[in-house]
Amino acid sequence: MINPHQNLLFVATILALCVISFVHVFLFPLYDADAKRFATKTYFDFEQSLCMANLRHRRPWQTTTQGSTNCPRGAIVTIVQGGRLGNQMWEYASVWAVARRTGLEAYIPRCIQVKLEQIFESLSIPSFEDIAHCPLDLGRFVRSLEAWNYNNQSVVLPRYSIQPDVVLTWVHDIVSEFTFRRKWRVKSQQVLRAAVEGIKSKGNAFSFVFVGVHIRRTDYIGYLWRKHGVPPAEPQFYITAMNYYKKKFHGREVLFVVISDDPRWCQRKFGGMRNVYVPSRALPNTPALDLAILAACNHSIFDYGTFGIWGAILAGGETVYYNLSRHSSMRVGQLLPNWHAMS
Ligand SMILES: *[C@@H]1O[C@H](CO)[C@@H](O)[C@H](O)[C@H]1NC(C)=O
Ligand SMILES: *[C@@H]1O[C@H](CO)[C@@H](O)[C@H](O)[C@H]1NC(C)=O
Ligand SMILES: *[C@@H]1O[C@H](CO)[C@@H](O)[C@H](O)[C@H]1NC(C)=O
Repeated sequence: MINPHQNLLFVATILALCVISFVHVFLFPLYDADAKRFATKTYFDFEQSLCMANLRHRRPWQTTTQGSTNCPRGAIVTIVQGGRLGNQMWEYASVWAVARRTGLEAYIPRCIQVKLEQIFESLSIPSFEDIAHCPLDLGRFVRSLEAWNYNNQSVVLPRYSIQPDVVLTWVHDIVSEFTFRRKWRVKSQQVLRAAVEGIKSKGNAFSFVFVGVHIRRTDYIGYLWRKHGVPPAEPQFYITAMNYYKKKFHGREVLFVVISDDPRWCQRKFGGMRNVYVPSRALPNTPALDLAILAACNHSIFDYGTFGIWGAILAGGETVYYNLSRHSSMRVGQLLPNWHAMS
């Protein structure tokens, strides 16, 4: 005879097991979803699974070659698209650098390629277009450089990957991958000339020291609070950093070109200062022009965020950045000469 307590225990056990499997099946469907996501037969489907938007309505495949000679000879490295320009530059650079480190063939999804090719003219990594028809063995993919053991394994890096240690081993080469198209170079020089005229200095334009200042606000303020539990940098940080350069280049005209996703705030806080120029006082420029302006400057100041990091890397001069521990800018700053954190 079963006593009611045992019965209850039995029911409770069954219920608990049901809850556990429910949680497993419905709340943690990661493995299943991944298996489906990657249940692809060719690189065509695979590339689609790496992109945020549907690629199919874009320009059709130009290559129809079915020859297996075009297929990758060995394993490959690629990445999932995520974020905006600064993130996607890190994603591109991560694939580029991991390929260089491992000897794997690099491919980037067309969604990243299309975005970056509007801005840069000498990107060397192909998209999957030419190998779209090739069969794919998803069993051979690992998700990080650390998990990669054998050269028969392919790597698909997660979105938002930032690999400063590998990328910055070849910093000069990645800077030349990101060579701006002529249009952006010309426009950015026009902005710097306007900045010189804007301060009505009598100095010769060649005697100027241009310092690009990137100030990240809008949605990043909430992100800083959620992710790092800190408020945004105070205006005093930017002023201290500017004073550092004024002192360093004493006797020369130092011109601060301020780029931001919130140019109005910058104009209000710094627009009245001598030698500060905010190119887009009301609305932001396009990200491409903003980045080209930062890159055209001689030295840099930035607070945080991937966009500011790239502006400073591409400018290639001295960089003063906001001291924010556990942020990727700190790692980049440790790896590059002439980068200093300031509070
Ligand atoms: C990859 O190479 C390793 C070591 O040579 C071997 O153990 C493994 O079976 C290979 N895997 C595949 C999928 O070829
Ligand atoms: C500083 O930047 C300006 C504008 O891009 C450029 O013309 C000049 O050659 C740079 N100066 C140095 C020393 O690199
Ligand atoms: C950055 O901040 C940390 C703690 O917040 C501090 O220990 C460190 O000295 C600071 N570094 C600089 C360069 O100000």
